[in-house]
Amino acid sequence: PRLRAHRRSPSLARVTDALTAELRALVGEAHVLDDPQLTAPYGSDWTGRWERTPRLVIRPGTTDEVAHAVRACSDAGVPVVPQGGNTGLVGGSVPHEHEAVLSLRRLDRLGTVQPLDRTVTVGAGATLAAVQAHVRPHGLAVGVDLAARSQATLGGMVATNAGGVHVLAHGMMRAQVRGVEAVLADGRVLRRLGGLEKDNVGYDLPGLFAGSEGTLAVITGVTLRLVDEPAHRVVALCALDGWRAAVELTARARREVRGLVAAEAVSAEALELVIETAGLPPPFEATPGCALLLEVAGPEEPTDELAAVVERAADDLDVGEVAVGTDARDRARLWAYREHITEGLEARGVPVKLDVTLPPRELAGFVEGLEDHLPESVRAYTFGHVGDGNVHVNLLRDALVPAERLEDTVLELVVARDGSISAEHGIGVAKAGWLGRVRDDTDLATMAALRGALDPTGVLNPAVLRAH
Ligand code: FAD
Ligand code: MLT
Ligand code: ZN
Repeated sequence: PRLRAHRRSPSLARVTDALTAELRALVGEAHVLDDPQLTAPYGSDWTGRWERTPRLVIRPGTTDEVAHAVRACSDAGVPVVPQGGNTGLVGGSVPHEHEAVLSLRRLDRLGTVQPLDRTVTVGAGATLAAVQAHVRPHGLAVGVDLAARSQATLGGMVATNAGGVHVLAHGMMRAQVRGVEAVLADGRVLRRLGGLEKDNVGYDLPGLFAGSEGTLAVITGVTLRLVDEPAHRVVALCALDGWRAAVELTARARREVRGLVAAEAVSAEALELVIETAGLPPPFEATPGCALLLEVAGPEEPTDELAAVVERAADDLDVGEVAVGTDARDRARLWAYREHITEGLEARGVPVKLDVTLPPRELAGFVEGLEDHLPESVRAYTFGHVGDGNVHVNLLRDALVPAERLEDTVLELVVARDGSISAEHGIGVAKAGWLGRVRDDTDLATMAALRGALDPTGVLNPAVLRAH
């Protein structure tokens, strides 16, 4: 039999009145919720795919309170699910029957920006939008940006190693983390908020916690490296024949345009969906096979290099109309065709959501061949971070087509083309069935050893990242 990522089962003790009373004494009466009407909003993530009513929600306001709460739950054998903004897309923040939700949202302090160090330390519950607004007056920005910015928390973004739209310029969340403060499964607090650019004293524990999905520690604070907020930005939305041209034009822009910070593709189906659901005017006279959004940023107005690359590609890549936005309003208008797709899909139903990476050489073949493998009744919407080889495949289906069958079909195609079954959203519970198919026994055993060392009794998010 294959080794499991985490062999120890949680003890599944139930929440008792005694535990509830102890937690109320530790974090305050008002911040331990057990009324189903109050706990229900903490019981589903953004997808609406998982809906549960948590038995208990704990809302500590300080790191010490987090530590006390984790220790109390650990002693009682009650597993906890760390939760931030609940914008995750793989079910990782949704509690199972006997699990307590540990909401970190009250830990939203914003530390002093250090302009010389180009760092800031923030509480795990601070939203990305709040941190962005906090550092902007210093001419600085967070290296990761994503459409869920007004709800996603920095703790959640570290825990998922979020990617977003600027990865090709600044990397994923792990690359932004200069330090963390975290509560371990037994309630001890690990403090590594140093913030230095170079610090090779021992293992990179902050880096390990990035992408750990609430299974290794509860993140309570983060020191972020910051990047320059460029004085100028230009966005171009280009109408192309299809994904092959999008991949090629992106490669050329990466080679030839200084300051390329985003390359995002939207297929025809996704473009039509977002136009309808968000009530946007069509950006082009006719819907193209694929729309490619390129964003360039720099200290000077960066339009020339971008225009030159697009013009040179006009003939051989058959570039059609190009809409350009230089001021903030026009840029936002163009980004809307990309950023509102997720909401548009949710308005149509609960999609089967896949988030995969392909080597760029395989990307267009994968996307363009996808429909041949799907039942006719299924509608496929593809869009994503083409600059990173990361495509989001969302499938709307009728009840007769099992979701699992669709997931398997798509993920088998991805694996056959040397891709990854999770680019940036993580494994959560949604992709857990695939963990043992894409990581070998030694790999799974190494992860299990780390998890077992940090959480020997399985109290931290036990259902997540568990191979089955
Ligand atoms: P939650 O959803 O609350 O939790 C996510 C996971 O992290 C869970 O496993 C949870 O247990 C764990 N966790 C949360 N907080 C902590 C903590 N303090 N300590 C330990 N574990 C914790 N993701 C991308 O990568 N790129 C995108 O471009 C992107 N765009 C999005 C756009 C939209 C419209 C939406 C709805 C989502 C998008 N996401 C994207 C997904 C989501 O926003 C990210 O995964 C985000 O990082 C989750 O943050 P959160 O605070 O909402 O975490
Ligand atoms: C995005 O890039 O918009 C997201 O990761 C959200 C999604 O996949 O729906
Ligand atoms: Zn994404």
